Amino acid sequence: MHWRIERSSAPAAVSVPLLEALDLVKDYRTGSEVRRALDGVSLSVGPGRFLSVMGPSGSGKSTLLHLLGGLDRPTGGEVMLRRRALSALSDRELTEYRRQVGFVFQSFNLVPVLTVAENVALPLVIDGRRRAEVDRRVRDTVAAVGLEEQADALPSRLSGGEQQRTAIARALVTEPAVLLADEPTGNLDSATGEQLLSVLKAAQRDREQAIVVVTHDPNVAAAGDEVLHLRDGAVTGRIDLGCGGDGSPPAQRLAAWLGDGAG
Ligand SMILES: Nc1ncnc2c1ncn2[C@@H]1O[C@H](COP(=O)(O)OP(=O)(O)O)[C@@H](O)[C@H]1O
Ligand SMILES: [Mg+2]
Repeated sequence: MHWRIERSSAPAAVSVPLLEALDLVKDYRTGSEVRRALDGVSLSVGPGRFLSVMGPSGSGKSTLLHLLGGLDRPTGGEVMLRRRALSALSDRELTEYRRQVGFVFQSFNLVPVLTVAENVALPLVIDGRRRAEVDRRVRDTVAAVGLEEQADALPSRLSGGEQQRTAIARALVTEPAVLLADEPTGNLDSATGEQLLSVLKAAQRDREQAIVVVTHDPNVAAAGDEVLHLRDGAVTGRIDLGCGGDGSPPAQRLAAWLGDGAG
């Protein structure tokens, strides 16, 4: 299809937004103290687009991802999926929303008494999918992240990188419209990180999934079409890596941008 070829170089503004954040504000209250973790963040991710979010520790990256995933409610502003506001959804619709979003947590959140394959199967089982479909999808997804050998192992027997890959397989197995990942390569050596990036890129390319990845790693961030930089809960810079630029490789342009203070 023609548009498939055009897509990666098209500016974000012309693609139909799948996931949007409009002026998101999040305050955390502890006792009498209020801490503003997000202070008016807006973004838009189209189908098949990959957005990277960078920024120092404490800048609000995880908070932003939780709000996008419908795991927490904003103090102000709005999250929209296909132009529908999350705040307008009933509890049942919100559950449905979360099914369309794959989430990779910074802390994996694997179930310790279930094997790798069982952890990956969990969202499908909860969804009530047929056994044959569950088995097939689990096999394919476990293979895609390179964990066939560990399929029957418990998480406690895995390395950090293998646990992380299990978490990513579990997020991808339902083929969600949106994949949100918090530091997905934080514990991976660079070869495994490369493999994971290729899994994410395949999800983006072959299934038109929208991907939002929080990362400290410029190599991971450079795989995105666009990079947002957060500081103190606000977007302090954006760079579009998909749009030609001066013709230098995305990783190089990103490095120069970060070196200049990110916007
Ligand atoms: N549940 C919470 N309760 C109180 N403060 C929180 C909570 N979660 C995050 N924060 C605070 O909000 C700010 C942003 O945190 P976070 O989104 O985790 O940042 P990042 O992921 O960029 O490191 C930090 O100052 C953090 O201490
Ligand atoms: Mg975080």
